[in-house]
Amino acid sequence: MNSASPSPEEVHRRLVAAYTEIAKLAGGLAHEIKNPLSTIRLNMELLAEDLAKSDSPRDRRALVKISLMQRECQRLQNLLDNFLNFAKLQTLQLEPCDLNEEIDRILEFFRPTAAEYGIEIVRYFDAELPSVVIDQEAFRGALLNLLLNAQQAMPDGGQLVVRTRPAGVGVAIELIDTGEGMDDETLSHIFEAFYSTKSGGSGLGLPTARKIIEGHGGRIRVQSQLGKGTQFTIELPTLPLLR
Ligand SMILES: Nc1ncnc2c1ncn2[C@@H]1O[C@H](COP(=O)(O)OP(=O)(O)OP(=O)(O)O)[C@@H](O)[C@H]1O
Ligand SMILES: [Mg+2]
Repeated sequence: MNSASPSPEEVHRRLVAAYTEIAKLAGGLAHEIKNPLSTIRLNMELLAEDLAKSDSPRDRRALVKISLMQRECQRLQNLLDNFLNFAKLQTLQLEPCDLNEEIDRILEFFRPTAAEYGIEIVRYFDAELPSVVIDQEAFRGALLNLLLNAQQAMPDGGQLVVRTRPAGVGVAIELIDTGEGMDDETLSHIFEAFYSTKSGGSGLGLPTARKIIEGHGGRIRVQSQLGKGTQFTIELPTLPLLR
C-alpha cells in the first residue's frame, strides 16, 4: 500500500469535515435568503391592504398578481424552513423511551388532520415492546413527515395502520396506508432531496426522516403498490450504534 494514502478513518473524518462545511454554507445561504424574503412578504402584504381599498379594475388586477406572488413567497419560505431542518447538524439527545406511548402522543397530534380527511387510524401496538433510546423531538419530526405523506396520499380518506413489534435487535414501526401508492420509477427516487410529485412539495420530508432514523442507527424501508397503498417500515435498535 502507498504509505501516503490516508487510512479509512482519515477518509471518513475528511468526508465528515467536508459535509459539515457544505451544510454550514448551505444553511447560511438559506438564512441569508430568508431575511430579504420576509421584507418582500411584509411589503407585499402592505401593498395588498392598500389595493384592497380600491375599486378600480387596474388595482383589482394588481391584487390578483400580488396574491400569486404572496403564494410563491410562502412556498419559498416553506422550502427554506424544510431545507434548514434537513441540513442542520443535529446532535441527538438520546433518552430511553416507551415507544408505544411516544407514538400515541404523536398520533394525538395528527388525529385532527386524519379526522378532517376521513382517515381511520388503526393501532396494533405490541405490549411487550422493548424500550428504545431515541431523541423524542427528532423522532416526532420524522414520524410526522411520514404521517403527513400518508394523509396526502389519501385525500379522499382511507385507513392508516400503525403497528409496532419487536424486530431483530430492536423494534419495528409499520405505517400502512390505503392511498394512491407509487410506481417503481417514483419509488426509486423518494429518498432523494428535492424529489417531489406534489405541486408545492419541497421533497425534503423523506430525506429528513431517513437522516433522523439512520442517525439513531436504524433504517427505513418502503413497499408500495400503485392504486393500493404504501407501507413504510422503520427499524430502530434498542441500543443504537451511534455514528
Ligand atoms: N405514503 C405515500 N404514498 C404515496 N406516495 C408517497 C408516500 N410518501 C411519499 N410519497 C412520494 O414520495 C415523494 C417524496 O416525499 P417527501 O415527503 O420527501 O416530499 P413531499 O411530500 O413531496 O414534499 P414535502 O417536503 O412537503 O414533504 C412524494 O412527493 C410522493 O410522490
Ligand atoms: Mg412529505
